[in-house]
Amino acid sequence: MNSTSQPTALVTGAGRGLGLALARALLSSRWRIVVDARRADHLAPLLSGAVVVPGDVTDPAHRDALAAAVSGLGRLDLLVNNASDLGPSPLPRLADVPLTAVRRVYETNVLAPLALAQRFLPLLRAAHGTILNISSDAAVEAYAGWGAYGSSKAALDQLTAVLTVEEPVLAVYSVDPGDMRTEMHQAAFPGADISDRPAPETVVPALLRLIATRPRGGRIRAAELMDPTGVTGATEVTGATA
Ligand SMILES: NC(=O)c1ccc[n+]([C@@H]2O[C@H](COP(=O)([O-])OP(=O)(O)OC[C@H]3O[C@@H](n4cnc5c(N)ncnc54)[C@H](OP(=O)(O)O)[C@@H]3O)[C@@H](O)[C@H]2O)c1
Repeated sequence: MNSTSQPTALVTGAGRGLGLALARALLSSRWRIVVDARRADHLAPLLSGAVVVPGDVTDPAHRDALAAAVSGLGRLDLLVNNASDLGPSPLPRLADVPLTAVRRVYETNVLAPLALAQRFLPLLRAAHGTILNISSDAAVEAYAGWGAYGSSKAALDQLTAVLTVEEPVLAVYSVDPGDMRTEMHQAAFPGADISDRPAPETVVPALLRLIATRPRGGRIRAAELMDPTGVTGATEVTGATA
């Protein structure tokens, strides 16, 4: 396979957790990848061959740097909007949450994914590519304390649904990965023992299957995809045909 025929992905928030696990799996499947995180010094040895662009997805100059890195690779088949902000820990009720924190959550979880989608739509259309927005069950369930984060993921889901209709050549998904044993999950449950939660690596096969099989776009739970009958019966996938 020469380099321009290799599928190419941009994965945000690949410094740890789900983003790192997915980036590693894509590299092993011979994808070329561009990754980011604000703290990325440790990534070059972990993701040998990846283009690592340190920075914050909410920063337009960083998004310029991502665009330059992707353009250097010549194509984009997959955009994974994974980087995310939980908000303050412990999670405050809506009565108390500082609006500056809510603004930051929305900048990271809604506006940055939209900005990256806008930026990369021409390349993604050319490749008949895929956008994977990483969502949460907090987008659809009302958990006390999760108002800022949950409403941002609900907005992300709605961006997904509208993009699915507006961009018929693309496959656009919001995936709820389920609980995972990560830094974000620990911040959501400070002091709690989260060792029984599955590792983020356990979710990756479902994401790879989604990318490979391209069912109809919309919101889906990774747990549905991990069920061997899940993709073809993807009952949670809604929206127009991708
Ligand atoms: N863990 C769960 O139980 C769970 C459940 C449902 C949904 N999710 C979703 O799954 C996705 C991955 O979560 P995770 O648990 O793997 O999180 P995580 O362990 O906290 O990792 C998040 C990654 O994103 C990076 N990041 C955060 N803000 C960023 C920014 N503004 N710009 C660039 N990179 C940024 C972090 O690195 P830096 O801090 O160095 O930037 C880190 O590499 C998120 O979308 C999350 O909302 C997680």
